Amino acid sequence: MVIKNMAETLFVPKTSDRRKIYAEITPQIEALVEGESDLIANLANITAALKEAFGFFWIGFYLKRENQLVLGPFQGSLACTRIDFDKGVCGHCYMKKEIVIVPDVDEFPGHIACSFASKSEIVLPVFDRDGNVVMVLDVDSDKLDDFSETDAEGLQKIVGIVEKLI
Ligand code: SME
Repeated sequence: MVIKNMAETLFVPKTSDRRKIYAEITPQIEALVEGESDLIANLANITAALKEAFGFFWIGFYLKRENQLVLGPFQGSLACTRIDFDKGVCGHCYMKKEIVIVPDVDEFPGHIACSFASKSEIVLPVFDRDGNVVMVLDVDSDKLDDFSETDAEGLQKIVGIVEKLI
């Protein structure tokens, strides 16, 4: 039997060192999206790859629509579909145009609790070529203080891949 499309198989090193995992999966994600021109398909596979590699509680994109952020491809439990630009960690990231790490979501004023299991969160802006934020990448953990500079750096490289697609 000939097995085709092996590019869809993700190799994840068996280590708890996230830096090593990011280093291993980033080129694979780059290769995965290379042959596909549909943005939504690529975003969907990126969330699946991150879920598989790290097992984070929730990973997804919120896409800028007219005057709100609207739920895009994600992995995890049901989530709120619309976020105003001035609401939540995602809105804060959108407005500030910078990476936001929240070690304890209960301490973040205005945090939107899509799930009570979510304890800490990191959100990254995704820019178009004109410097506008066109979506955000939101990753939630069910553990407190689960995100560090390692995640900011690792996820920023994934965001860089997305930015080349738009
Ligand atoms: N917690 C986010 C909302 C999205 S969910 O976590 C999936 C926020 O405060 O913006």
